[in-house]
Amino acid sequence: MALPVALGTVNFGTSIDKEHCFQVLDMFQSLGGTRIDTADNYAFWHPQGQGGESERVIGAWLADKNRSDFEIITKIGAQSLSSKTFDNLTGLSAAAVLRAVEGSLYRLGTSYIDVLFAHLDDPHTSLLETWQAMSQLVASGKVRKLGISNYSTQRVKVLDELIVQHGLEPVSYAQYRHTVIPPVPGADFAPQIAIDDGLLAQLRNMSAPLTIMAYSPLLDGHLAVAGAELPAQYDSAANREAVAAMGEEARSRNASLAAVVLERLCQQGFLPITATGNAQRLRENLKLLC
Ligand SMILES: NC(=O)c1ccc[n+]([C@@H]2O[C@H](COP(=O)([O-])OP(=O)(O)OC[C@H]3O[C@@H](n4cnc5c(N)ncnc54)[C@H](OP(=O)(O)O)[C@@H]3O)[C@@H](O)[C@H]2O)c1
Repeated sequence: MALPVALGTVNFGTSIDKEHCFQVLDMFQSLGGTRIDTADNYAFWHPQGQGGESERVIGAWLADKNRSDFEIITKIGAQSLSSKTFDNLTGLSAAAVLRAVEGSLYRLGTSYIDVLFAHLDDPHTSLLETWQAMSQLVASGKVRKLGISNYSTQRVKVLDELIVQHGLEPVSYAQYRHTVIPPVPGADFAPQIAIDDGLLAQLRNMSAPLTIMAYSPLLDGHLAVAGAELPAQYDSAANREAVAAMGEEARSRNASLAAVVLERLCQQGFLPITATGNAQRLRENLKLLC
């Protein structure tokens, strides 16, 4: 059975050099991992990045692999047009979608993408235009399945209605910020969106069932090792107590806190995306799932 996690690669090719990326990818494969998560804009915000570095490293690694052993997940629509900021993005017009996919296919060195995500809602383009273009890519065989990331509950609802009305490709995957503890009330992650009860209910009641992927499950390392301080957006007495209990559980099972967190997300029906530049850490983090 495939490992029930995806490998996050946001820092591949920028803050993580090619050699370490290959070590992590090799380890992921050896542990039974098949799903690799990237985006065309990873990581333009890095001082040496322009976007596309992560896809390029994955393409180089895939070159001598059996392509059909892996599910390549990439995202489009949030590449910066002004090189370093999120306020002028490529967006999701039909032309931008088609152009972006050609770029991703080229960098990944593949003829198809397993899952294509709309990375971020594009308020300047109608949902229908975006989804018709993305559905066309499935019909052409360049893409297998479609996903959305960081869409508000209301926009997900409208999109699902449009899909049914126009007979378009279903949303098969959704990707949001999510972990085993909730953010404190009012925490703002814009342009990211964290799952709340209303959004979860919407995602679980779509016209077609979908897989919910949870990004940032380890809160950038704060939920990886017992005793670490929680970031302000997650710091509450209830969360500290929950994390301490998970730390105890980790100790008693001779595993890391990260391993318990990832296992718990899987048990709750999510597909976590886990990231590290260190192959041994990846093995430890996946200890309870392999
Ligand atoms: N759709 C979206 O908008 C969106 C947004 C954000 C992320 N994502 C995807 O989700 C992936 C995961 O997100 P994320 O990077 O925020 O995940 P995360 O799990 O919250 O954090 C990953 C960080 O945790 C650290 N870490 C991992 N294991 C550790 C350990 N055992 N001890 C100490 N530190 C540890 C890693 O540092 P080291 O490298 O030093 O180990 C890494 O920098 C990304 O790579 C990307 O593919 C998608």
